[in-house]
Amino acid sequence: MRFDESRRLLARATSVIAGGVNSNVRLREQPHPLFFESADGPYLFDADGNRLVDYVLGNGPMLLGHRPRAVVEAVKQQLATGLLYAGQHRLETEVAELLVQHVPCAELVRFSQTGTEAVLAALRIARAASGRQKVLKFQGHYHGWADSMHHALAVPSEDTAYGHGLTPVEASVGQQHAIARDIEVATWNDLEGLRSAFSQHGHELAAVIAEPIMAHGCAAPSQEFLELLRDLCNRHSTVLIFDEVITGFRFGLGGAQSVFRVTPDLTVLGKAMASGFPVSAVVGRRALFDGVATAGFTHAGTYNGSPLGMAAAKASLTMLADPSEGVYDRIEETGSRLLRGLHEIAIRSSLPLLVQGFPSFFILGFTNANAIVDHYGLATLDLNRAKTFAREAVTHGVRPTGRLGWMLSAAHSVSDIDFTLEVCENTLRTLQN
Ligand SMILES: Cc1ncc(COP(=O)(O)O)c(C=O)c1O
Repeated sequence: MRFDESRRLLARATSVIAGGVNSNVRLREQPHPLFFESADGPYLFDADGNRLVDYVLGNGPMLLGHRPRAVVEAVKQQLATGLLYAGQHRLETEVAELLVQHVPCAELVRFSQTGTEAVLAALRIARAASGRQKVLKFQGHYHGWADSMHHALAVPSEDTAYGHGLTPVEASVGQQHAIARDIEVATWNDLEGLRSAFSQHGHELAAVIAEPIMAHGCAAPSQEFLELLRDLCNRHSTVLIFDEVITGFRFGLGGAQSVFRVTPDLTVLGKAMASGFPVSAVVGRRALFDGVATAGFTHAGTYNGSPLGMAAAKASLTMLADPSEGVYDRIEETGSRLLRGLHEIAIRSSLPLLVQGFPSFFILGFTNANAIVDHYGLATLDLNRAKTFAREAVTHGVRPTGRLGWMLSAAHSVSDIDFTLEVCENTLRTLQN
């Protein structure tokens, strides 16, 4: 496959858009940022007329595949009736009711647009409710690009702070330095480090925020670690926030919290909730929201709860909840087939490969590590080789992310999976030579 037209369009875009892209994540695309004309089911069609089997899925939202019919129809209906009211409408309540029904911690809801914004709302709610400032987060977890949460995957030569602890390292130039004062960082899955962080800072922690499965590396927590986290938050009156922007709906309607049976106080949701429309939410315990609807608190946003987004969210959640649609069964079947096939290919290959994760979301990484459980494991991934793999795979019609996190949708068929496995096997053979 060739990408000449994409390259021409990128050159034109670059003269008016910084780098030709509107999210720096897209700069990682191989062989260069591509231009797409349309998308349908599991496929993307680019400006050169290539068809790619897509495992990026809009970076997560397209759990039902691209352009799911029910969602498109619901949005069309909404387009015919009204776009934005700066006022309430029934769909907001209906979607909130669905979240309260399905997400274990959800008693009350506030909608925003993006995951980044909903994380900021969750942090503000936690700080307001607790009267404290500090937040503990985990190294390698991504919570959006806002100054207060954007920290690099940094592996220090020596552990600092509390033995197993770390200091936050800004991930971008231009970040506000002063914010680091209120951030503590710990290592995912490190029981001792967590105990130690709480014994030093528990009394001043407004919140702990974590992805219940660290998406970079697809590193699940040990049950013991997650339960310890819940217990320490309880004992120190610290608000436990799960950032389920990736795991929400992808790991079942109740998200990872229902899989692990550990219920946080607040949860941030986004991505798959609205199949490509910008909708996010913070949901959680009623008592934490007590101060939210008061004059002293600000949560705002011109587009929050927009009719189009809510129409998309209602249709998406309704489809996910309908057993006759069999969304989760299909993903389980195709995702397991892909995982199984990749495991077999990894065994046959002489390259140091790690396949880790779940049918709906996993990584294929180049590393000698047997498993990734924390950011130290993440740091062993050979990202250059991952780039070469992605470049080869895209050239043969399969689009993984540059970092090799794979997402499945309900639209991928068994034949898409078999095609993908063939491309992966050939690609790895090329890399070996
Ligand atoms: C776990 C997690 N939290 C938050 C975000 C930020 O979401 P958004 O890109 O919608 O701002 C992301 C985005 O990838 C994410 O993966």
